[in-house]
Amino acid sequence: MNIPHVPVLLDEVKEVFSKIDYGYIIDCTVGYGGHSETLLEQNPNIKIICCDRDIEAIEFSKKRLKRFEDRTIFEHAKFSTILEKYANYPIHGILADIGVSSLQLDKSSRGFGFESKTLDMRMDSKNIKSAKSVVNEYSKNKLEEILKEYGEIRDFKRVAKNIIDNRPFKSSQELAMVLKKLGGKPKIHPATLPFQAIRIEVNNELGELNELLESIGNSKLQNCVVAIISFHSLEDRIVKKTYKFWRQNCICLSGAMRCDCGNNHSLGAIITKKPITPKIEEEKINPRSRSSKMRVFKLK
Ligand SMILES: C[S@@+](CC[C@H](N)C(=O)[O-])C[C@H]1O[C@@H](n2cnc3c(N)ncnc32)[C@H](O)[C@@H]1O
Repeated sequence: MNIPHVPVLLDEVKEVFSKIDYGYIIDCTVGYGGHSETLLEQNPNIKIICCDRDIEAIEFSKKRLKRFEDRTIFEHAKFSTILEKYANYPIHGILADIGVSSLQLDKSSRGFGFESKTLDMRMDSKNIKSAKSVVNEYSKNKLEEILKEYGEIRDFKRVAKNIIDNRPFKSSQELAMVLKKLGGKPKIHPATLPFQAIRIEVNNELGELNELLESIGNSKLQNCVVAIISFHSLEDRIVKKTYKFWRQNCICLSGAMRCDCGNNHSLGAIITKKPITPKIEEEKINPRSRSSKMRVFKLK
């Protein structure tokens, strides 16, 4: 079987979930099954709910994990919706390795890469919004907003103007060529940040992450390890801030004169004071792991 994605921080993920010896783990982003397979091998008594919004990934993982048929449940769904369905299951672990898989990036028809002949970038092909509609139909203001917020591009007005002056675009390749002429930060392709911004918008990536964390925070889950692997600072900031909030006993507004919330709201403990990042050896073997960061929280 030709596996199109190398899982990041695999040893670290194994370690984080090593003590779970019964119940379920939710793999929110099963992708090509790398993390799930390793956990199923390591933890022989657990079952995994394997979720992904990409049907191609689900079909692949079903085949890859066939030998664990009686210990896996597959869900073609957005991870923001997964907990409501499994709220009554004994869930002791939640893993989300958010971002794009190598197959999504490398397969030209998916439209994520600079050489792609389509302009798509949807993780779920049923999504109405695609890169084509964002790039060709968004107003100047809306384009500027996403380039600024999701791409953190200083020159967002110039980039938006260039997109508008050259549209309509038929492919990611055409778009990348126009963006390349604008130049930008040294060492990174000038299309990298605009592509990141468009992809985040198309897939509502930050909204999904916020909703997943909110669903965990509002759940009644106990004794559950939550590990989120993110790939850029916008996501990492959300995870870091949420874990800090979860840890707090007092949830009174910051200006409150005295505490009247009961001071007993902590959901558990932050396990990783600093995020776990890949070792140099992993970065060499898998350069895409370079920007990954894992943060872990233990619900009490
Ligand atoms: C980095 S890959 C995961 C790779 C996987 N851990 C493995 O070992 O093969 C990220 C996956 O998350 C999925 N994904 C991203 N956002 C999602 C969401 N909101 N809901 C469900 N799946 C999502 C993508 O479709 C992609 O397959």
